[in-house]
Order: sequence, then structure tokens, then C-alpha cells
Amino acid sequence: ERHQQKALDMQGQKVLISAGPTKEMIDPVRFFTNRSSGKMGFALAEAAAERGADVTLVAGPVTIDAQHPAITRIDVVSAEEMYHVMNDQFADKDIVIKAAAVADYRPKEVHTSKMKKQEGDDVITLERTKDILKKLGERKENQFLVGFAAETDTPIEYGLGKLKKKNLDAIVVNDVSRQGAGFEGDTNIVTYINKKESVTDLQQATKKEIAVQLLDCILQDMKDDSI
Ligand code: CTP
Ligand code: CA
Repeated sequence: ERHQQKALDMQGQKVLISAGPTKEMIDPVRFFTNRSSGKMGFALAEAAAERGADVTLVAGPVTIDAQHPAITRIDVVSAEEMYHVMNDQFADKDIVIKAAAVADYRPKEVHTSKMKKQEGDDVITLERTKDILKKLGERKENQFLVGFAAETDTPIEYGLGKLKKKNLDAIVVNDVSRQGAGFEGDTNIVTYINKKESVTDLQQATKKEIAVQLLDCILQDMKDDSI
């Protein structure tokens, strides 16, 4: 049985995964966030833990739980917080997977009191967040670094662009305009692209099954890289 065969083939590997959305506060009662449920990242964490890996899961605000005892979960809220935790956790990891949907912008000013409506207040000025994955790519040593990209148009092309720009070893591209793929659902349809630009299409499956297959792709590429 496949599950039996795979048992513990990630023993001794340290895996860092980020999952879920970020939440960027405007004032004490309002915020910007996105549709990420965290399910894909949590499924990766569970799948790696079941194969014997030592998993650190950095989670944005989500409503799901991690079950496996080999998962150490660190909760964060904002992109800035996620950046600091990922950066602190990065050095000793073997595999780093950024499944989180990080906000690209945050309010430039975070109000400490609840905002009152008034004339001329119809614009919120935003500023860019740090690109966490790009910064990890810049300081990468032996880590196998994997990004995610949710796209609605020409997913492979955009995915490859991100792989190169962020110095990744692989990217998982997700066409969120397709039925059965994307954010809240329990299934996904993804394409795995490695730095040699080899493209692997995975069939629609549960996020857990996709997670197992993505780990297979990653382990195979790590083996090939080490030859
Ligand atoms: N990412 C990140 N930090 C950010 C934005 C994105 O670490 N501030 C990571 C995501 O976790 C994901 C990858 O970068 O693994 C791609 O995210 P995506 O939003 O698809 O790409 P961007 O580079 O933000 O480009 P754009 O949103 O403009 O398409
Ligand atoms: Ca983005």
C-alpha cells in the first residue's frame, strides 16, 4: 500500500511551511485580508509530518487546526510578522514552502482609535509589504525553496517569472479561475514547475492528496539536485 511505502521517507528533514492569509489592520476593528483558507499549507504540513519530517507551520489567521504532534505551529497576523518569523526560522531548514497568501499592500497608517467617517476621508493610503519569499530566495543556502502562485491568467508564464525573480527551486501554480481549484475548497488543481522548467500537471484531487504528490515532486528534485 502506497501510504505504507512512504512511511517515514522524510525522517530527519526539517520543513518550514507558511499557510493562510495575512490580516492588515486599518484601525482596531477593521482590516484587509484575502480568501486564503490555509487548507493547502496545512495539508502539506500534515503530509510532511506523516512522512516523518519535523514541521514548523507559520499560520496566518485561519479557522483550521493542525493535528499531527510533529507540527510546531506559530501563529502570525500581518505580513510583517510573517516575515520576521519566517526569517528567524529559515536557517536550519531543508525544505521551505510558502503556501501563504501574503498581502501585497498594507495601510500606511494604522489608526489606534476607531476611525470616524468624515468629509474627504474616502482614500486609504497603502504601502507595499516586504516580499518574504524574495528575501528568503536572496539568502538561500541549501534550502529547497518552494513558492505558490495563484493566478487567473497565463498561470505557467507568470509562475515561471516568479520562480526566476525570487530564486526558487520550484513553484506550485494554481489557476484559481478553474472549478475545483483555489481558495476555500477541499480540492485543488495545480501545476508543479521546477527550476529546470520541467512542468508537472497534477490532476484534480483533495488538497491532502495534492500535498503528498507535491512532496514527491520536491523529494525527487532534491535527489536529482544532489547527484
Ligand atoms: N509572497 C511573499 N511575500 C509577499 C507576497 C508574496 O512571500 N509580500 C509569496 C507568496 O507566499 C507566494 C509567492 O510569493 O509563495 C507568490 O505570491 P503571488 O501573490 O502569487 O505573487 P507576487 O509576487 O505577490 O506577485 P503578484 O501578486 O503581483 O502576481
Ligand atoms: Ca501577491
